[in-house]
Amino acid sequence: MFNDLSTVTTYLETRRSGKPRDMVAPGPDSAKLDLILRTAMRTPDHGKLFPWRFVEITDRSAFAALLKTAFCAANPDARPAQIEAAIASAHMAPTLIMLIFAPQQSLKIPLCEQEMSVGAVGMNLLHAAHAYGFVGSWITGWASYDPMVRAAICQGEERIAGMFFIGTPALDLEERPRPVPSDIIRQWP
Ligand SMILES: Cc1cc2nc3c(=O)[nH]c(=O)nc-3n(C[C@H](O)[C@H](O)[C@H](O)COP(=O)(O)O)c2cc1C
Repeated sequence: MFNDLSTVTTYLETRRSGKPRDMVAPGPDSAKLDLILRTAMRTPDHGKLFPWRFVEITDRSAFAALLKTAFCAANPDARPAQIEAAIASAHMAPTLIMLIFAPQQSLKIPLCEQEMSVGAVGMNLLHAAHAYGFVGSWITGWASYDPMVRAAICQGEERIAGMFFIGTPALDLEERPRPVPSDIIRQWP
């Protein structure tokens, strides 16, 4: 059993992302989504810089059109089937949240710490979605790194840290390989 919400520890021990293409309704309504995002914000952040924000993609057709324009600009020889595959994610899952890395000027907090903080928000966003009974998935894909998509969604130095799909799994989740603890846990000295 994955994402076993019986207790906090059973959940953490069984946490598993879903696949966006297998996510169906229901997704979170606006009140639950608000709770999920508020929970995700409760994340370690050196210096209280809040170097992150969220963008909910509400118009999926407009997002698909943006992906199509961007993909075709980057791949002018793309065949129709390739274009369809590249933009398919725009219509997946009931809810789609872009997590934006919003670096802040700071003399004290290095950029790498701000990057780690946005990663922590991403993990927390998955936990929050799961805690409210949904399943989440963190995908960057090509779109998160595309300059045209970035320009449409980000401001200034911001970057897309990932797309977070949230919904209900239509299929059973499957385990994926996990590290062998003894391979990566050491004691010092
Ligand atoms: C920053 C980041 C970007 C990711 N981008 C993708 C992606 O583009 N495509 C993909 O299949 N998985 C991607 N993943 C992996 C999945 O989100 C997920 O972590 C993985 O399938 C393992 O599942 P788990 O969350 O159940 O451990 C990404 C993970 C991270 C942390």
